[in-house]
Amino acid sequence: MTVDSYLFDDETLISPQVQSCLPQNYSIRPLGSRDYDRGHLQVLGVLTDIGHHSPQDWLDQFYYMKKRNDTYFSLVIIDHASDRVVAVGTLLMERKFVHCNGKVGHIEDIAVANDQQGKKLGLRMIEALQYIGARNGCYKVILDCAVKNVPFYEKCGFVQKESQMAWYV
Ligand code: ACO
Repeated sequence: MTVDSYLFDDETLISPQVQSCLPQNYSIRPLGSRDYDRGHLQVLGVLTDIGHHSPQDWLDQFYYMKKRNDTYFSLVIIDHASDRVVAVGTLLMERKFVHCNGKVGHIEDIAVANDQQGKKLGLRMIEALQYIGARNGCYKVILDCAVKNVPFYEKCGFVQKESQMAWYV
């Protein structure tokens, strides 16, 4: 059997506090090269349309991100009893000239499997991404979300600022 390779290998970026707060048999780790088979896309499908990926399409994207592993920090929560992905989330690191070559973390693509919601997995995922942002020296971490999810993000420590604008091609 092939062994997982991970999007990034720096274990110090995984919050020990978050790990210790997860339910028994659950763990949080970087996205792995075999997570397609563990249902990574099915969990993302809770959030939005994911399109149709062959296993190779998925791996192409995984290795694109892995080559840029100082930019893409995708995490998964795994239920080891079923060996399934139950929650996903990404922190994208943006480097800027402002704030003296500052860094901003963008939280993207947060989703918890339908039958796993309400167990604080979403909260733990956000805490884990905030931890990565802080460890990487981000001066802020931001995200866009639906109005109905504002109370969830407020519970994660976020405050509402400004407005989101979108332009669709
Ligand atoms: N409205 C109000 N409160 C909420 C909501 C909500 N929509 N969702 C969770 N909460 C509260 C919970 O009640 C809990 O409160 P408590 O601490 O007082 O008990 C707290 O927030 C933490 O909730 P969790 O159990 O961690 O939430 P869950 O694991 O269900 O994850 C999430 C929340 C991620 C929104 C999940 O419901 C989900 O996957 N939804 C569908 C996909 C989605 O909308 N993702 C977010 C997209 S935005 C982005 O990606 C940047």
